Amino acid sequence: MNYEKGNMKSKLLNHPIKATFRASSDVALVKYWGKKDERLRLPENGSISMVLDDLYTTTTVEFSPQYKNDEITIDEEREEDEYRRVSEHLDRIRKLAGVKLRAKVVSENSFPKSTGLSSSGSGFAALTLAASKSLGMNLERKQLSILARKASGSACRCVCGGFVEWIGGNSDQTSFSRTIFPARHWDLRDVVVVVNEEKKRVSSTAGHKSAESSPFFKIRKERIDEKIKMVKRAIKNKEFSELGELVEAEALEFHSILLTSNFSYIAWHPGTVEVMLKVEEMRSKGVEAYFTINTGFNVHLITLPKYEEKVIKGLENLALVKKFIRTKVGEEPKELREHLF
Ligand code: DP6
Repeated sequence: MNYEKGNMKSKLLNHPIKATFRASSDVALVKYWGKKDERLRLPENGSISMVLDDLYTTTTVEFSPQYKNDEITIDEEREEDEYRRVSEHLDRIRKLAGVKLRAKVVSENSFPKSTGLSSSGSGFAALTLAASKSLGMNLERKQLSILARKASGSACRCVCGGFVEWIGGNSDQTSFSRTIFPARHWDLRDVVVVVNEEKKRVSSTAGHKSAESSPFFKIRKERIDEKIKMVKRAIKNKEFSELGELVEAEALEFHSILLTSNFSYIAWHPGTVEVMLKVEEMRSKGVEAYFTINTGFNVHLITLPKYEEKVIKGLENLALVKKFIRTKVGEEPKELREHLF
C-alpha cells in the first residue's frame, strides 16, 4: 500500500491494547455504484450520504501473540466469506503497522446485516478504527477513510459523521470522505421500513462489477457531478422538497441501472413497491417523505421531524411492512470503554 510519508503518525505500542469502536452506517443520497479500480476500490463517481444514528456496528479488536489465527465473530456467527474479507483487511492494517500478530475480532450490529442497510459500511469503519487503535496507530481521519475504503467503499464515508461527501478521486490518496455538514446542521429523519429481513440476493461487491454493462451508465456518469452539486446545495440551504425529489430520482436512476445491467437485478420485494406507492400517495396529501433504496429490499424514507409520526401511521397497516427503525442523522464513530470480550 502506498501511504504518503508524514501522513501517518504511527506510534506503535509495545503491547497492543484491546480497542472498541462504534460506527454508524449511512444512507447514500447520491449512490456509489461502479468502480474504476477494483483493487483500490476507486468509485466511478463521488457520492453523498447521511450517517444514521441508530444503525451501528460495535467492534472490539485485540491483537495478541496468544492468537494463532484471526478469530472473527460477527453477530455470534462465523461465516467464511466475511471471515476472508475481515482477515484481508486486518492484513492491510498489519502491513501498514509492520506487525504480524493475529487478532481476535468480535462485532455486533444493531440492525439486520446484508439486507441493504449498509452493514459493510459501519462494519468496516468500526473495524478500521478499532484495529488501528489497537495497534497504537494514530491515523488522521483522511487516512482512516482511505484505509476503510479498501475494505468497503461505503465504509470510507462511515468513518465520518453527519452529512458526508466521498470525493471519488482518481488515485489512492485522492479518494476519501469528509463531513460536509455536521449532524446538528439539519434534523432530518430516516424511517427505515423493513419489509424483508432475508439477505439480499446479490452482494453490492458483485453488483458494482456489472454497472458498466448498463447502456444508461454512461449517461449517469455524465450527469452525476451536477447532481452532487444540487444535492449539496439543497442540504446547505435546508431545502427539503428539493432534496427529497433529487434523492428519490437518484434512487430510481440507480435501480434503472440495476435493471438494465447484464444480470438484470430486480432488487425489490412486493413490500418495497407497496411502500414506494404509498409514499407517493401520502405526499399528495401533504405528508412529505421521499424514498431511497439500496440493493436490499428495505426502504429508507427521508423526512422531517414534523412528518415522522404521520409517515409511520400511514404505513403501519400495510400488509407487507414488518417493522420500522426510526433514526436521525448520526455523529462520527465513538471509542467505547466497554469491550465485547
Ligand atoms: C448501493 O460499499 O457495499 O449501497 O465497496 O463492494 O463493499 P463495496 O460496496 P458497498 O456498496 C454500496 C452500494 C450502495 C450505494 C451506496 O451506499 O453508496
